[in-house]
Amino acid sequence: MSKLIAITGITGTQGGSVANTYLALPGWKVRGLTRNPSSPKAQEWASKGVEMVAADLNDLSSLEKALQGATVIFGVTDFWTIFQDPESMTKKKPGQDITEYCFEVEVAQGKNLADAVAKIHSLDRFVFSSMASAKTASKGKFGGIWHMESKAVVVKYIQQSLPGLKDKFSQIQAPIYYNLLWQWGLPTTPRKDSNGSYIIQGVGPSNILVPFGDVQNDFGQCVKAVVDAKPGTNLLAVGEMLSWDSYLETWCKSQNVPVGRYVEHTIDSFAQLLPGGLGREFGENVLFAQEFAYDGGEAGVVRPEQFGIGMTSFKEYCEKTDFSSIL
Ligand SMILES: NC(=O)c1ccc[n+]([C@@H]2O[C@H](COP(=O)([O-])OP(=O)(O)OC[C@H]3O[C@@H](n4cnc5c(N)ncnc54)[C@H](OP(=O)(O)O)[C@@H]3O)[C@@H](O)[C@H]2O)c1
Repeated sequence: MSKLIAITGITGTQGGSVANTYLALPGWKVRGLTRNPSSPKAQEWASKGVEMVAADLNDLSSLEKALQGATVIFGVTDFWTIFQDPESMTKKKPGQDITEYCFEVEVAQGKNLADAVAKIHSLDRFVFSSMASAKTASKGKFGGIWHMESKAVVVKYIQQSLPGLKDKFSQIQAPIYYNLLWQWGLPTTPRKDSNGSYIIQGVGPSNILVPFGDVQNDFGQCVKAVVDAKPGTNLLAVGEMLSWDSYLETWCKSQNVPVGRYVEHTIDSFAQLLPGGLGREFGENVLFAQEFAYDGGEAGVVRPEQFGIGMTSFKEYCEKTDFSSIL
């Protein structure tokens, strides 16, 4: 009999990668959770043989229903959907930072998901897309990287309040996506200088390595490795460790353009270049990773090479990507 994997976020990057991996595996059926099964993206998955079902992370009962019969559940919550929802501005408390409000909603969504997962009797493994607690790892120095903290709070909730999941729960951490560097309007996007070379702007020293990766392409095979490994596994799905210097150099060489320079900002001047929250969340994420390690230096976090997984290097990503919109 086939096993069933249920995937949240299937119409997005992480969940889509997981779906592609399991669709190609014999003996597996794939079920995708979406808020809107009739959206074009959802329909595309349905046409590939995925059973698409309606579920909302804000609605516990919809999750309980959608997860029935699953052997494996991959769960991702999305901070940025909440951030981009215009209603979030009206729902947050007066004076509250929008990013802190997004944290609260994402935590509630993650707890809903975990509570629903804990009721699935057919379950063998729950793999949750997590991030380190920057607040704990930095002893409070980075206390407000909300898109990280939310996921860490959910993990703590699972570990402390859902003992039934103890022998079924594992984590996977996404690195910073290669495409975030240039497709989200961040100052890290290469920009042509007056002399024809390309410059990037960022935070922190130019030579400290931070984990990046081609999440769309590689994440699914990493999730499969976690599913197949023992419970309690925590995998950082890094493709390549990059510094600002190596990012700029590799990108310029791949596009055959002169290597320019890296412009270092303070977190405040960086956040001003992209106000509203994204600049600060990203900038602090990088500074935290440079000082304390992206995974918070937590013991036992494993890497793809320990499972023999071939990951896409940044050079390979650059060579297959069309950057004409920024050249
Ligand atoms: N970008 C990075 O560099 C990076 C690095 C590490 C971690 N992350 C984390 O990755 C997460 C985002 O993952 P992603 O990039 O795969 O997302 P994505 O491509 O933006 O897609 C978002 C997915 O979330 C689903 N979704 C949103 N709200 C939902 C709700 N209320 N109920 C059910 N499903 C909902 C959407 O499904 P429907 O629209 O079909 O309902 C969609 O499939 C974020 O939390 C972010 O912090 C990102």
